[in-house]
Amino acid sequence: MAIHKVLVTGANGQLGWELAQASKLFPQFEFVFVDRNAMDLSNPTELEGIVTLFAPDAIINTAAYTAVDKAETETLLAHTINADAVLTLAQIAKQKNITFITYSTDYVFNGNATSPYLTDTALEPVNFYGKTKADGELLAAKANPNTIIIRTSWVFSSHGNNFVKTMMRLMKERDALNIVGDQKGRPTFAKDLALATIKILEKINTGKTIKGIYHYANSGETTWFGFAEKIKTLANLECDLTAITSDKFPTPAKRPAYSVLDTQKIEKDLEIEIPSWESALKQCIYQLNNA
Ligand SMILES: NC(=O)c1ccc[n+]([C@@H]2O[C@H](COP(=O)([O-])OP(=O)(O)OC[C@H]3O[C@@H](n4cnc5c(N)ncnc54)[C@H](OP(=O)(O)O)[C@@H]3O)[C@@H](O)[C@H]2O)c1
Repeated sequence: MAIHKVLVTGANGQLGWELAQASKLFPQFEFVFVDRNAMDLSNPTELEGIVTLFAPDAIINTAAYTAVDKAETETLLAHTINADAVLTLAQIAKQKNITFITYSTDYVFNGNATSPYLTDTALEPVNFYGKTKADGELLAAKANPNTIIIRTSWVFSSHGNNFVKTMMRLMKERDALNIVGDQKGRPTFAKDLALATIKILEKINTGKTIKGIYHYANSGETTWFGFAEKIKTLANLECDLTAITSDKFPTPAKRPAYSVLDTQKIEKDLEIEIPSWESALKQCIYQLNNA
């Protein structure tokens, strides 16, 4: 069945907002965006009625419990939103024979690798948030093998809360900052992820089968310190930056030392070239400075 009407959860999040911006370029789809008030994932039993009401051909679930440190203690709520609700949406999609796309994280891996994680690398979540997302993946894929799961990492956007906006604010407020320099990953511009997601809808409409696990992140890799240095240069800010080790910046939830995702599968299946994180960052900072 061709996809026309698309229901997107998490309308006010980084990715939900970028999907709303990107959707304007794709008039062949009718997008409906719902926020937490219209569709609350902490009440999985209510989801079927809401999906039935909108009658979409596809669901894109960007909503998630994303407070990584808080998830260590708010375990029940985090698990309900990131695992139970994802399972319910996968079941609804199967029963209605519609497409279901949801997102996961690099935190499903142990963080000890030395080469990029493949889509079939064994799961070993680094913290409780990672466990909720891994559970969501496994439950959804088992209940509905057509589920499309996109793992991503280090998401930033000109909208919402993220490292880029926090760094720009702190660099304006302070003379010096210490930034963790021993964790490696791939920053991801939510706008680029939104465009890749819509490309999936387009590909499905051409008859191509897209299902299972994918990784999407901007190309290249860096550390949080390297990311901060680039933000400083591109935003033309003055601030002394010092690289510190993770043990000097303790957090309730453990962070992975190495969380670089291998994105070859999505590049091949969607026939896309993923922009570098530096060029994506340049675009994001331009948007922030010209808002
Ligand atoms: N951000 C990252 O660095 C990162 C990294 C790896 C993977 N991911 C994954 O990528 C996806 C998109 O993330 P994002 O960066 O766009 O996250 P985000 O900016 O934190 O947005 C998450 C959205 O989920 C909504 N939400 C939270 N609880 C909800 C509930 N009970 N019912 C309905 N909506 C609820 C929030 O609503 P409110 O606006 O009302 O709070 C928010 O709009 C998520 O699956 C996330 O786990 C993100």
